Amino acid sequence: MAGNRTFSIIKPDATRRNLTGAVTKKLEDAGLRVIASKRIHMTREQAEGFYAVHKERPFFGELVDFMTSGPCVVQVLEGENAMQRNRDIMGATNPAEAAPGTIRAEFAESIEANSVHGSDSDENAEIEIAHFFTEDEIVG
Ligand code: PPS
Repeated sequence: MAGNRTFSIIKPDATRRNLTGAVTKKLEDAGLRVIASKRIHMTREQAEGFYAVHKERPFFGELVDFMTSGPCVVQVLEGENAMQRNRDIMGATNPAEAAPGTIRAEFAESIEANSVHGSDSDENAEIEIAHFFTEDEIVG
């Protein structure tokens, strides 16, 4: 598939409810291809580093607690306009505001336990991919 790439995390609330396949199917049905994937249990150090941009936010500690509360599946997704395509199928951060049919509308439990993360720019996608993957782990 031609196109560029973005970064996705299936969060602990979704892995706990055995929704890895269901979430991935939504991504694939939206025209995205999983070109790298691994299941990890983030350390606090990894989560704090990944979310460093939010460290002054009041919810930072809770966000790190949540992201280290169970396994995540980190993925590199490829497709035309991959970053925007992924954000469209994810839906709004707050599931109460997410459009019908989106991953968060169907699966998210709360603004914190919102099932997925997706990069918000192509530049951040490359930074976030590099947090978790080496180039030889990505097979397009
Ligand atoms: S905001 O408020 O719209 O700027 O939030 P956003 O940048 O989309 O959110 C950044 C990440 O923080 C998570 N988040 C929260 N976690 C816990 N409690 C509260 N109140 C909360 N608000 C936002 C949100 O799920 C985002 O996670 P990622 O992994 O980036 O999607």
